[in-house]
Amino acid sequence: MDNKIVMSGIRPTGFLHLGNYFGAIRNYVKMQGEYECYFMVADLHSLTTHPDTSQLKSNVHRVLAENIACGLDPEKAAFFCQSHVPEIAELYLFLNMLAYKGELEKTTTFKDKARLHPENINAGLLTYPVLMATDILIHRATYVPVGKDQEQHLEMARDYARRFNARYAAVFPEPQAFNFGEALIKIPGLDGTGKMSKSENQLATLYLADSDNDIRNKVKKAKTDTAPTTPNSPVPENIKNLFALLQLVADESVVKKYADDFNNCTIRFGDLKSQLAEDMVNFISPIRQKAMDIMNDEKYLQQVMESGAQKARKSAAATMQAVKEAMGLNYY
Ligand code: TRP
Repeated sequence: MDNKIVMSGIRPTGFLHLGNYFGAIRNYVKMQGEYECYFMVADLHSLTTHPDTSQLKSNVHRVLAENIACGLDPEKAAFFCQSHVPEIAELYLFLNMLAYKGELEKTTTFKDKARLHPENINAGLLTYPVLMATDILIHRATYVPVGKDQEQHLEMARDYARRFNARYAAVFPEPQAFNFGEALIKIPGLDGTGKMSKSENQLATLYLADSDNDIRNKVKKAKTDTAPTTPNSPVPENIKNLFALLQLVADESVVKKYADDFNNCTIRFGDLKSQLAEDMVNFISPIRQKAMDIMNDEKYLQQVMESGAQKARKSAAATMQAVKEAMGLNYY
């Protein structure tokens, strides 16, 4: 075990789906046994785009429960809520002085969100990357398991770390994107376009909270063409996606059977979809049930959040002491 520190955040803004599982959570589960890990529910980040907080508590509980149901172990990793670590708000303020307005305005996610919601372009949204940098730097983390869409934010976190170190003293290591083992896989949506998503594309997305029937219905509705008539035909994109999904949850021999059937033109896409639906049900339903049990156990969730916050605050407080010393804010 080397002493690399891993940190990642999950916004509590929707239901987790298969893409989150195979793209992120599965990675967290592998990392928690190898590294010192900080996994955080980014509830403060969600306020930048979701000012209505009526669903926040249940969303936070759900994210915690679903991650734990997928194997994230709060005994191994620090699993906590951002708002339970006030040191984050404090360091965010300091880092804001190192972040320039022009750069923030050029951030892709800011421009996208500003375009989508011109009525709520708030300063918190503008400084979203500063808050994310804070989440990482407060634990002096070096490994950050995130997808491609977060790479620009990570680059900015490195900039702020560098600026702080140059202006005051070398406190922060530079964090980098990190994924365990194989390269990141993209989990395709069921409609043959795009990928699975927390908020858009709901019919093409399999959620970890979907009922068995939801799963069957969504898989059944996936678009297929007429079956191939020439042996070894090229596989159309939407069929490729179904195979990619099958590969995630079915036995190798099952995948091979359908691939062979495709190549010798005996495949029936209806059968392929029934197979995929049943394998998905077998995969998702135990996770859904476990998550539901955890959601209903508020006492347990409270205990998870408390012990997570305790671990996170310990690490955060040590960093803040180094930060304040470096900045000359140690008056006594
Ligand atoms: N911005 C990330 C996202 O939208 C969530 C996040 C918040 C995060 N803080 C983080 C990710 C720190 C990695 C590290 O997915």
